[in-house]
Formats: sequence, structure tokens, C-alpha cells
Amino acid sequence: MTDVVIDFGSEPLLGKVARVDTNRVTIVGSDAALVTRVSVGDLVAVQGALSTEYLIGIVDRVIRDTEERLSLDQEDDEEDFAQALTAERDLLRLVLVGTYRTVEGSAHNTFKRGADSFPKLDRSCFLIEGGNLQLLMSTLSAGVPMEERLILGSFVADSTASAIADGNRLFQRHGALLGSTGSGKSWTVALILERASKLRFPNLIVFDLHGEYAPLTDEAGGFAQSFRVAGPGDLAAPGPDVLFLPHWLLNHEEMLAMLLDRSDNNAPNQAARFLTHVRTLKGATLTTTGHSEVATTFTVDSPIPYSMDDLLDALRADDTERVPGATSKDVGGTYYGKLTRFVQRLEAKRLDRRYGFMFEAPAGSMQYDWLPTLLGRLLGSENGQRGIKIIDFSEVPSDVLPVVVGVLGRLVFDLQFWMAPDARTPISLVCDEAHLYMPVRDSADAVATRGVEVFERIAKEGRKYGVSLLIVSQRPADVSRTVLSQCNNFIVLRLTNDQDQSVVQHLMPESMGGLTAILPLLDVGEALVLGDAVVLPTRIQVDPPQIKPDSATRQFWTEWAATEAPSAAIALGVEAMRRQSRSST
Ligand SMILES: Nc1ncnc2c1ncn2[C@@H]1O[C@H](COP(=O)(O)OP(=O)(O)O)[C@@H](O)[C@H]1O
Ligand SMILES: [Mg+2]
Repeated sequence: MTDVVIDFGSEPLLGKVARVDTNRVTIVGSDAALVTRVSVGDLVAVQGALSTEYLIGIVDRVIRDTEERLSLDQEDDEEDFAQALTAERDLLRLVLVGTYRTVEGSAHNTFKRGADSFPKLDRSCFLIEGGNLQLLMSTLSAGVPMEERLILGSFVADSTASAIADGNRLFQRHGALLGSTGSGKSWTVALILERASKLRFPNLIVFDLHGEYAPLTDEAGGFAQSFRVAGPGDLAAPGPDVLFLPHWLLNHEEMLAMLLDRSDNNAPNQAARFLTHVRTLKGATLTTTGHSEVATTFTVDSPIPYSMDDLLDALRADDTERVPGATSKDVGGTYYGKLTRFVQRLEAKRLDRRYGFMFEAPAGSMQYDWLPTLLGRLLGSENGQRGIKIIDFSEVPSDVLPVVVGVLGRLVFDLQFWMAPDARTPISLVCDEAHLYMPVRDSADAVATRGVEVFERIAKEGRKYGVSLLIVSQRPADVSRTVLSQCNNFIVLRLTNDQDQSVVQHLMPESMGGLTAILPLLDVGEALVLGDAVVLPTRIQVDPPQIKPDSATRQFWTEWAATEAPSAAIALGVEAMRRQSRSST
């Protein structure tokens, strides 16, 4: 490492420490011109206990306050009087974030998180800029080991220095990528994927809600494997990239959330019969396929194929059962007429082609050995298989979305949970538009609630099993707080909505809250990065990815000037709406 160290000897004094709270320091500025150059997010060095030690703080407030210095023995001179009234005082508030030492033992230029001591009153403070800033930034980067480096972009304060995050820490304990629409979230996701694609065995699954990441897939010359959840148009002849999630993958809670009407008097009977029959049918599958060792320990939620026809037959039999009565006449059995509504709901769902991915999976998916193949395609990276998987949900209707995403998330988590610990490969789920399927609880219906629970569980326990989440959302205020509060790293792009800003503010360590003031001011692709993956909270410019996602930003004005709306295409659109599929085959 270079022996050049930060030198404030020739720098103008910014001010002196005037007040010290736990980790906040207030400085009274001594150079009015210099203070006007300072903005929220800038770095300031406060002289520490030794001449070689500086405490590093981030400016979270700049105030020019007018002091009234009217004293009784004031000369009765009009001009002096006016001047005294407008005496100004510049106050800068800092959040202390680290300690920099020019020399520490035999090392030069060291930086560590946290302030090692409290600054004393009257200590000198300097703005860190120019060459000193570059030195500090390269010191920060030097702290992340080479093989863990994830280059996100450059520092806004010093565009020559790379902004480096610790790739291990970013994924270890969940991250959140937040920002208003158009602020650059999808580009940032694409950049992170691109960086990950350079590793030999990356393992990420992207939930792509709008088909935005299609350019990143193999088909488009990219680096990711693409999948698509079966839409109504895929049922007849599904291609190899089409995903089915047959009904038997759902656990009983997911199934009942979809089928049971809790306000029905017979709901408890319906749930009980459903459980009994599913368990029996799964047991029968184990017997006929020769898996008797599983039969001794499986539960109703074990993912074992069973036939929906058989389930419906069993439920209908209950519903219509007649038994000999006390007199010679037959009477209704225990469940006679009590399951009618449940059976009807199940039949209706089954006929609804939007649920085709669940109820119309090809025959092969009823095989016992089908599940390892599915999960192998999603999680494996053997035989040159791509480690980055993009699942396109763009044709999945919004009311089923939480079930599909939730089931996929749960399958991944359950698999990691049950796998031998030393065989697990860490996997990250990139959850784009997360507010759509992990909403705050009070706005979720029964089905969405199940989905939220899955992600809350992953947020709380995933780390132990090598499952992490990268939550991407434009509406952090609408995302489950339990999930967000488990995130340890934040990449926050421009955020304009007050409610969202306040949520982000509450998620940050208390002392950092003031930094959210810059969020509405960030430029496109600019982000505030904080958390344990970066040594210092910093404002960075995210590098544009090489392969851009297809954000489909339309040039309204230009297009209105040049392109007419074709009525033939409108007619085709109507047909697609009827078919519930965009592909015309
Ligand atoms: N890092 C960046 N550098 C430069 N321009 C960017 C960057 N990120 C985004 N943009 C611009 O902003 C537009 C919207 O970005 P996008 O990632 O789709 O936003 P979001 O997903 O947050 O809605 C992009 O089409 C691009 O023109
Ligand atoms: Mg986007």
C-alpha cells in the first residue's frame, strides 16, 4: 500500500467541534466560504486524540443560523447595530462513522468502522476533498479482500475511485434495492447480475415481473437461463423453458388459502376432509411407487404427487354419502352436503386456465422423480448450466402471483433446509417489484398472506441455510416490514415519496437517518449505499450494465408525433386478451 497519507496541514480549517452527542458532532464553521461548498453526504475529518488519528463523519445537516448579538452596551451606531443583528453562524452536524489513522503501528493509512473515541470540544475539523478524498476512498477499497469485491460504480464525491461493496456481506444478510420508478433499480439489478455472472458458479434466481430481463438471457446473447411460468397459452405445447408448479407442490395452508371460504359454516369440515384425503392419496402414491421408507415419516405437506381427480372423487363421495338410517330409509352421511361449496370452488379453480401452471401440468410432472429434475434446473449449476436464472412472470395474473412466487420461494428454502449442510450452495432470490407479492400484512388477502409468510421466514432464517433475498421495490412503504427490517444492506436510489422515505429512514441505523435527506435529490443511477457490505455509507453512481434491461420506457411525445395506432394490432390484442396469451401459436 502507498505510504502517502492524508494531510490536512495545508487545508483550510472548516470549523471547530462545538457539541458532542453519542455519535453526532456539531461543528461551528470558521470559514463561511468553505461551508457553502459542503452538502449533506460530504465527509469531514475531526482531529482525534492523537495527531495521527482522525474521526470521520458524514455531514447530515448544514445550517446557517442568524444570531442576535444585541448587547446592552451596544453603541448607538445604526450601522454597527444592523451588523450585529445579522451576525451569522454556520453549523454542521456530522454522524461519526469511522476512524482513520495516518499511521497505526507499522501500517499507514488505516480505516475502521466506528469512532474509536469521542472528539473533544474545540478540535479542528477539515472537509475531505480533492486528493485527500481520493486517498481515503482508495483506503476504503483496499479494506475489501480482492476475491470478495463487487464493484458497483464510482463515488459521486470522487468519480475516479471505484465504489466497492463486499460481495459476501451484501448477500449474506439480505439486501434491499429501493428507489422510485425510473430511478435505476432494474439497471442496478442487471449490473449486479452481470458482475455475478463473471464468477464460476453464481447461484441467483431473479423473479422478473415484467419480462424486463429478457435481454440478459442466453436466447438474447446474455448470460442467464430463462424460464417462464406457464400461462394459458403454454398449456397445449409447453416449451422447454416453461415452468409448471403442479398442485401437489402446495402445502395444505397454501391450498386452503386458495380454496377455503373461512366464512362458510362448514369450513372446518372441509379443511379436515381435505387434509385426510390428501394424506391418504400421498400415502397411496408412496406405496405404488415403492417408497415405503418415506411412507413411515411423510406428512400431509410432503411434496408427493397425488391425482386431483382422485381427490375430487373422494371429496364428492363424502359430500354425497348415504348411510342406512334408523328406519329402513337411507340418511345423509356425516359430511353429506357439507363439502358442496368446497368441491365447487376446487372445480372452478381447476377449470380456470390461469391456474393451468398448477392444474394442467403435463403428465410427466405427476412422476415421483419429477421434482428433483425441476429443482435441479432451478438451482443446479452442473454441466455448464447457467447459475443465474431469470423467471419471467409477466403473463401470470396478479391475483395468482403471490401463490406462484411464494411456492417457488418456499421450495427453494425447503430444499436448502433439508439438504446436507455441506452440500448447500448459497442462493440468492432477487425479488423485483417485491411490494406485489410480499405486501405489508394488513393489505394482504389469505393467498397473499401465505406468500408473505414464506419471504418473512426466509428473511428471518434464510441466512442459516444459505438463502438470501435481494428485495427490489419502488414502494418500500408497501413491502412487508418484517422482510425489510431483516435487510442489512441498502442501495437506495432516488426516492421521492415521503412515506417511502420515512420507511427507509426508520430502517437505517438511527444515527444515519439524517442521510435520507439526500434521497429525493439523487440523479438517475445515483444511490446511497449503506450497510455492512460497505465500510462507509456512500453516495455512488452505479455503473450502467453492459446488457441493458428492457425497461420499455416509451417516448410518448416523439411517438405521438410519428406513429399511428394500428387498428389491426388492436384486434390482435383483443384476441390475446381472450386467449390470455400473447403468443399467437
Ligand atoms: N446507472 C445508470 N446510469 C445511467 N443511466 C441509468 C442508470 N440506471 C438507470 N438509468 C436510466 O434510467 C432509466 C430507468 O432505469 P430503470 O433501471 O429501468 O429504472 P427502475 O427499474 O428503477 O424503474 C434507464 O432506461 C436508463 O436510461
Ligand atoms: Mg424496474
